[in-house]
Amino acid sequence: MERIKSRLHHLHNPASHPHNHNPRHHPHHINLAHHKIHHIHHEIQKPVHHQPHHQNKPSKELIESYHLEADGAKVEAKMMKDSLGVKYELHIPEISPPTRALMNEIRNELVSLTSISMKELTDPESFETIKSRFIADAIKLIRAKLPGIEPNVEKFLIGQLIQEMLGLGKIEFLIKDPALEEIVIPSSGEPIRVYSKKYGWLETNIRIEKEEDIVNYSNIIARRVGKQITVLNPLLDAHLITGDRINAVLYPINTKGSTITIRKFARDPFTIVDMITNKTCDLNTAALIWLAVEYEMNILFSGGTGSGKTSFLNACMPFIPPNHRIISIEDTRELMLPEFLYWTPLVTRTPNSEGKGEVSMLDLLVNSLRMRPDRIILGEMRREAEARVLFEAMHTGHSVYATVHADTAPETIARLVNPPLNVPANLLKAINLNVVMFRDRKKGIRRVLQVAEVQMEKENAKANIIYRWLPDADKIVKHGESTRFFEEIGRNTGMQMTEIDEELENKKKILSWLIKNNIRSVKEIGKVMNIYYKNKTYLSEIINKNDVNAIAER
Ligand SMILES: Nc1ncnc2c1ncn2[C@@H]1O[C@H](COP(=O)(O)OP(=O)(O)O)[C@@H](O)[C@H]1O
Ligand SMILES: [Mg+2]
Repeated sequence: MERIKSRLHHLHNPASHPHNHNPRHHPHHINLAHHKIHHIHHEIQKPVHHQPHHQNKPSKELIESYHLEADGAKVEAKMMKDSLGVKYELHIPEISPPTRALMNEIRNELVSLTSISMKELTDPESFETIKSRFIADAIKLIRAKLPGIEPNVEKFLIGQLIQEMLGLGKIEFLIKDPALEEIVIPSSGEPIRVYSKKYGWLETNIRIEKEEDIVNYSNIIARRVGKQITVLNPLLDAHLITGDRINAVLYPINTKGSTITIRKFARDPFTIVDMITNKTCDLNTAALIWLAVEYEMNILFSGGTGSGKTSFLNACMPFIPPNHRIISIEDTRELMLPEFLYWTPLVTRTPNSEGKGEVSMLDLLVNSLRMRPDRIILGEMRREAEARVLFEAMHTGHSVYATVHADTAPETIARLVNPPLNVPANLLKAINLNVVMFRDRKKGIRRVLQVAEVQMEKENAKANIIYRWLPDADKIVKHGESTRFFEEIGRNTGMQMTEIDEELENKKKILSWLIKNNIRSVKEIGKVMNIYYKNKTYLSEIINKNDVNAIAER
């Protein structure tokens, strides 16, 4: 409670703005108090802040801009390019000094109006209640002090108050930007860096000037997940309810100052249509994996760190029929499946500072088998005990998908049979497909490198590569004949090879139609799969009539 009060008090006196822009020259400038305190306005406003004119300053070019909204406050994000590369600029309307002064008054009054208990701050649901209470109080105060305020200005000011008092300030806008995957506050005074899906790492024009603020933000995050970050406990790894993951390291452990890393949960993940259009895979491999998922084959997704294993796994999971119970187990929530699926996402929990409350991957894996799942998705297979349970699950008729750290199909097998996983080689025949992902760091591309099956030679497992990627031609080609995969599908389904081929052709036709019509979001793909599994004739009709509106969410 004390700490919260002091945090709120600290915010009563925000740093004064270094530049006072003249509103006439800045359309973004918000000044709504001038009709009331005209005279103060004129006293406070300094002369127009002129950009010094550098003759040889590199010219900046706007390459993209869009609006962002957090808590009702709207700002603009601009990607600016100069000779040194792209920079991410956030343009937040400046609040004029008189309005600032009024906001500070409102802030003081809000603090005395609202009393918050620790429980309310740590419980996500009560957090929303506090927020609504704050908003309601703030509206009353603002309207009393600024009668006739424009609704959008009011919204902006309230958003700012909420962000400064309960949130992460300007960082809230970056968190709301769907184009960003990661946000790093390196230390106070240094520009915040962001990882953009499109442009990679970018420097921003936003800095957190005070070390104290970074510590405060770390505290806010810690409280939201019921943890603590202190001098004695200077590391925080928090998974927010939104799926975002936040890590904080305080000074002096980070010798440069305290630092926060935010890894955002992908809200618009890659789908299979994206994976084909960006050439990560092709129609043949996508149709083959679809067939495998439909007929309950077990698939391992391999690759190096950051090669796209989890993303590709996620893109393939909507092929699961909607009435199958799916249980996913991850350390961090990364998977995002369509709402049509019957899906229970579980995440592990690390022990608290007293070493209590841990829920391990193994606990969840063992428990998931009691939940009568049809399909089990394991984020990453890392330890022997997990591998043992996973192979046991395959053996008892569950369909399993997992990622493994290995660069090629033969390496996947070597990885499985050797320490630390130690899976007995004769169990590997339970794996029906191994999809290997590859990341070319130089070119910045990710590809399906190999699609393989596991062949048994006596008691030894060997990789039989069916498809592989040719780097020079940047194409996926047939490499070898399958010896087991189709035979097993035939055995499970009673289909002849000609029928299996027809199935593959039909799947390719559906995928091509989706690509042609840019039907790509998780929601849209979910809808298509739902129709596919419930009424194939109806889906064919939609495609034959080219009835995009039956699916597309636009
Ligand atoms: N096929 C792809 N094309 C482009 N970017 C991708 C692709 N797959 C993944 N990524 C990006 O690469 C990063 C790492 O992906 P992820 O699936 O988490 O890799 P892994 O699970 O192998 O560590 C993410 O930022 C993701 O958005
Ligand atoms: Mg992963």
